Amino acid sequence: MAAPAIPRHVAIIMDGNGRWARQRALPRLAGHEQGSKTIQACVEAAIEAGVEFLTLYAFSSENWKRPAAEVQGLMRLLERFLDERARQMVKEGIRLQAIGRLDLLPEACQHKLEQAIRDTSSNTRLTVILALSYSGRDEIVDAVRSLARDAKAGRVAPENIDAEMISSRLYTAGIPDPDLLIRTSGELRISNFLLWQLSYTEIHVAPTLWPDFGKKEFAAALTDYASRQRRFGEV
Ligand code: IPE
Ligand code: IPE
Ligand code: MG
Repeated sequence: MAAPAIPRHVAIIMDGNGRWARQRALPRLAGHEQGSKTIQACVEAAIEAGVEFLTLYAFSSENWKRPAAEVQGLMRLLERFLDERARQMVKEGIRLQAIGRLDLLPEACQHKLEQAIRDTSSNTRLTVILALSYSGRDEIVDAVRSLARDAKAGRVAPENIDAEMISSRLYTAGIPDPDLLIRTSGELRISNFLLWQLSYTEIHVAPTLWPDFGKKEFAAALTDYASRQRRFGEV
């Protein structure tokens, strides 16, 4: 099946901030700071193209193991991003959502995130989903635990558990699976991102480091996507 010209859902592994900084002999945080600014260009490009969902891998569960100063810096950037962008999102018609173990984020981040999600909940132009403290395996573990609880209580019969039911227990319940996954900085791996949801997603790996990824690179990824034949296992 030829891919429809525009993917409904684009997911991005925003990678390469550290290398961008190192190339300029700057601290890693300078790369993260520049990276957080890049988000705006991709959000605009997504809206202009007519994409409905944009999921951004901003911080993985494994990223908690980085040095404390880098983690603190990333959390400060998240807070600043929410301070600066939340009001604009309301005006621009963007709906914000978040997936991951959000209870592990610093309280100030959690509150600002909840507030921004509430304030933008009725927007319909583009849904931006931030993956924060996110692990694809943790997400599946949480879904399995919730199903096991329901089975034990007699609310779910094990033989009725199917793929759709599992999808409905994931953090992404109600969101269509990504059509296109973009990974920047040339790495050829998934890094624990949306393990269940990426089953049939088309993958575009860009050599560009995330802080340099702009509208032009986003458009190139969409062009690459439009040239794909989606098969879903069929002939
Ligand atoms: C991506 O950039 C941002 C996060 C993972 C938070 P990196 O910090 O992983 O940058 P590289 O991969 O070291 O260049
Ligand atoms: C993936 O990048 C996570 C995010 C972009 C938030 P990493 O840099 O953490 O992944 P690895 O270590 O290269 O697999
Ligand atoms: Mg990296």
